[in-house]
Amino acid sequence: MSPEALRARLLSWYDAHARDLPWRVRPADRARGVRADPYRVWLSEVMLQQTTVPHATPYFLAFTARWPTVGDLAAAPDADVMAAWAGLGYYARARNLLACARAVARDHAGVFPDTEAGLRDLPGLGPYTAAAVAAIAFDRPANVVDGNVERVMARLFAVEAPLPDAKPELKRLAATLVRDDRPGDWAQALMDLGATVCRPKAPLCERCPVAEACAGRAAGAPESYPRRSAKAERPHRHGVAYVLTRGEQVALVRRPPKGLLGGMLALPTSDWRTARWSDAEALAHAPAAADWRGVGEVEHGFTHFTLTLRLLRAEGDAEGVIWSPRRDLAALPSVFLKAARAGLANLL
Ligand code: ADE
Repeated sequence: MSPEALRARLLSWYDAHARDLPWRVRPADRARGVRADPYRVWLSEVMLQQTTVPHATPYFLAFTARWPTVGDLAAAPDADVMAAWAGLGYYARARNLLACARAVARDHAGVFPDTEAGLRDLPGLGPYTAAAVAAIAFDRPANVVDGNVERVMARLFAVEAPLPDAKPELKRLAATLVRDDRPGDWAQALMDLGATVCRPKAPLCERCPVAEACAGRAAGAPESYPRRSAKAERPHRHGVAYVLTRGEQVALVRRPPKGLLGGMLALPTSDWRTARWSDAEALAHAPAAADWRGVGEVEHGFTHFTLTLRLLRAEGDAEGVIWSPRRDLAALPSVFLKAARAGLANLL
């Protein structure tokens, strides 16, 4: 199938099946000249980089209700934005988000640059986001390649090289399909195909508009693409989290600005290390002298390691902590929310 035929089929499929997403201009509206708001496109792309549409959507709606323009976001206090971001993970991304919003407000009069190169010059805005915003908000023929698009290309062209080495090849293949015609719809059509049809497991090839062109399918096992190198097992770390309560309040700390979960509110914890923590060690690192009780453990997956947190709980007082009402714990990153909930629930 020629690239032109393949494009025509996928774009027609998108015209009929595009998902309705709160940051998206539907293809029929786009054809009538409606333009996407670059702020909303940019915000959605940053949120969607490490999470799914269902998880990101409520955050997107909350952010845009509270900060309807990039100027509003730029003027927001850091702590408010970090708290609103809690649960999306990758907190460095929230700091980059603010740096970028402030640069747009300060250096560009609140107007996003309308080219990939101009976007790339903004602080905290990486190559993927620049390509996605250029295509979706400004209809620039940028090559927008995320994990979904890599998977679609690996299958369509039966790329045998394993990830991550295959990335440049997958990007090159994606570029062969980009045209000046409807670049924003094209990028979103590939994303929707990857998310709803060319799914990681159990692809729905019978619903795929380009199944006939798919070399991975012709080879008999499309789900086996993209190939992956035998990967090292995710390392495991161990820590202790301390759930200290004073009546209805829970003791929190702010993590140091750099590093994992930097600048975020957290439960007090020990270091995270490869060896488990003994009872005596766990007690020795407690943030206050109190009658600590073991209340189980929780496990949390980060990108590069899995963490097991032993939970110790006590009622008491401590110096230098931030006392927060239980109902405010929603501002905690997921790992600590999980630990706090488990620590408090196991008590009952
Ligand atoms: N995933 C990443 N960006 C997306 C977008 N703009 N639409 C749908 N899914 C996406």
